Amino acid sequence: MFRKIAISAVSALILGAGSAMAAGDEGHVEDVAFSFEGPFGTYDEHQLQRGLQVYTEVCSACHGLKFVPIRALADKGGPHLPEDQVRAYAAEMEIFDAELDDFRPRKPTDHFPPHGDPNAPDLSLMAKARAGFHGPAGTGINQFVKGIGGPEYIASLLKGYTGEEKEEAGTTFYENTAFPGGWISMAPPLYEDQMEYQDGHSNSIENVAEDVTAFLMWTAEPKMMARKQAGFTAVIFLSVLSVLLYLTNKRIWSAVKGPKKKHV
Ligand code: HEC
Repeated sequence: MFRKIAISAVSALILGAGSAMAAGDEGHVEDVAFSFEGPFGTYDEHQLQRGLQVYTEVCSACHGLKFVPIRALADKGGPHLPEDQVRAYAAEMEIFDAELDDFRPRKPTDHFPPHGDPNAPDLSLMAKARAGFHGPAGTGINQFVKGIGGPEYIASLLKGYTGEEKEEAGTTFYENTAFPGGWISMAPPLYEDQMEYQDGHSNSIENVAEDVTAFLMWTAEPKMMARKQAGFTAVIFLSVLSVLLYLTNKRIWSAVKGPKKKHV
């Protein structure tokens, strides 16, 4: 009986791993040490501000962030921009107001505009919608160690262009080592020395890709720092409570159990 179960378990594992490998036409995703990783990781305000600049100047031509309210740019734990800058940033983008039956400048309470190119997916939640690590053999064990890998996937995607392109049915595809299948219809959005950063940070493609990725992680999880802090407070609270409950328990039962015998 046991042998039967063992044999079927082993063959299921082998078959499962085989089919996962066959199905897995996954791209190559590099692990990146982002500042927001780990239980004490926090967003780097300056990186988020640079990422916002990259998003605004490059990605927003095609992509949207329709789930992100512009006022969140002023949030502590996020890009933390001054209120007047957020108002000015919002006013640069127009929105159609049904009540006015006309376009008007956006207010901080409005959301970012939706996509400009209907083929470009909305990026609000992209960093949590994609997984970078699946292996080994599709088991997902790497996710325990490195995290789900959504941000790593986006960073690798932006850095993963090989320069090859091909045309199929009127659409140009670009070879990309991170994109599942290897060919993406998004033209390489980043090139060397494209960004001018005011804080003097390096504008290599690698840094720019990581900055915009950190920003997209923030749009997907704007309250990450508050969540980690609440978790940390809960752990401390529960530890103190455990000690108190232990002492209370001892005290309540002391009458029944009697005093400890003294060794003479
Ligand atoms: C010229 C328009 C254009 C620009 C600019 C652009 N994208 Fe894209 N992007 C696209 C299109 C089109 C797709 C869909 C590609 C596909 O599915 O083949 C896409 C897809 C994506 C995806 C999803 C890939 C997936 O797994 O489905 C991500 C992430 C992404 N873009 C990030 C960015 C970032 C970050 C920037 C700015 C640095 C950017 N894009 C700039 C057009 C653009």
